Order: sequence, then C-alpha cells, then structure tokens
Amino acid sequence: MGTILVAYGSKEGQTEKIAGRIAEALAAHGHDARTASVADSDVGEALADADAVLVGSSIHLGAHSKPVYEFVREHRDDIEARPNGFFQVSLSSALDDEDARAEVATYLDEFVEESGWHPERMAAFGGALRYSEYGFLTRMMMKRIAKDATGDTDASRDYEYTDWDEVESFAADFAEFVESTAGTAAGGAAV
Ligand SMILES: Cc1cc2nc3c(=O)[nH]c(=O)nc-3n(C[C@H](O)[C@H](O)[C@H](O)COP(=O)(O)O)c2cc1C
Repeated sequence: MGTILVAYGSKEGQTEKIAGRIAEALAAHGHDARTASVADSDVGEALADADAVLVGSSIHLGAHSKPVYEFVREHRDDIEARPNGFFQVSLSSALDDEDARAEVATYLDEFVEESGWHPERMAAFGGALRYSEYGFLTRMMMKRIAKDATGDTDASRDYEYTDWDEVESFAADFAEFVESTAGTAAGGAAV
C-alpha cells in the first residue's frame, strides 16, 4: 500500500495529536503513514514522496493556520496530483447548536475559497481547551469564551472535545478512498 502524508498546522498541539491518531489508523489499514508539521523544512519532500496527502489546520480567531495556507498555496499542484483531503479542528465543532454548525461550515467554505484547493475529502473535528498552554491574556479570553460555549472555565486543567471515533472513521474512509483510487489506476492499466 502507498505512503500517506498527514501534514498539520497546530498551535497548542491538538491538531498534531489528531494527525498522529489519523496516521495510526491509516497504518492499521496497511498504509505507510507519516505526520509532518507544515512548517517542517522537509515537508515539501515528504509530500513529493507520498502517494496521498491529508492536511489539517486548527482555527484561531476565526481563521485557519497561516502556515497551512502557505503550504497549500506553495504545493497545490502536488497536493491535487494525489488523493487528498483536509480536516479542520476548532472549538465550534465541539458545540451542538445551529450557530456553531453554521460557523464550522463557513470556516470550511472560507478555506476552500481562500486557498483555491478543493479537497476530495473534508472533515471537521472538535478541538481542545489547553489552558496549560495559554499565556495570561489568552487564558482570560478563553475562559470568557468557554463560559458561554462549553462551560469549562476551570483553568487549572485542560479539556479535550475531540470525538476519536469520528477521527478514526474519517481515517478509515480516506484509506478506502486511496485504495479505490489505486484500484482504478491498476484496472485502467489492465484494460
Ligand atoms: C486564541 C484562540 C482563539 C481561538 N479561536 C477560535 C475560533 O475563532 N473559533 C473556534 O471554533 N475555535 C477557536 N479556538 C479553539 C481552537 O480551535 C482549539 O483550541 C483547537 O483545539 C486548537 O488546535 P491546536 O491545538 O492544534 O492549535 C481558539 C483557541 C484559541 C487559543
């Protein structure tokens, strides 16, 4: 089976953790999966070596990671030349109300519009509140946001909202997608 690159942009570590879990799930499906930060100096080479690619980005202040945009803009042709997918990580995806769902959809639309890349597979996962990683001002701001959002305002601990079953099922779907694409190519060659 082929090599799959899971490239991520993560500020406080939750998107990186999700990328790791996706890579484990892909490996369980028989793929050679590796993770890399989009900021790594050799991420372009890792992409060139890969047969398929997933890109993950967290959301901060209503926007996706700048390094992820830079990676996608610089390598769009290489990304589009392979089976590809995108996953987004945010607090909004942890909330079960209509406004939050609309926000999640808007973030995805904005990413597609601003990057110019139309991923073949997309997913949105709940992230985390990592008070232990925040400086004083960010901690105050996130406590205020959390009060209305999740109610989790005890900054002496962290909170994780990621649904790991959803993450594994996305990875399984992507593994199947990659296998079906390879099958098509092999079938075409056999005709
Ligand atoms: C300063 C800051 C701003 C954030 N802004 C948003 C936001 O606008 N919308 C949202 O849904 N989540 C927001 N979040 C939540 C993050 O998306 C969430 O914490 C995520 O797990 C971060 O992923 P990372 O650890 O990979 O960077 C924000 C978090 C922080 C710390």
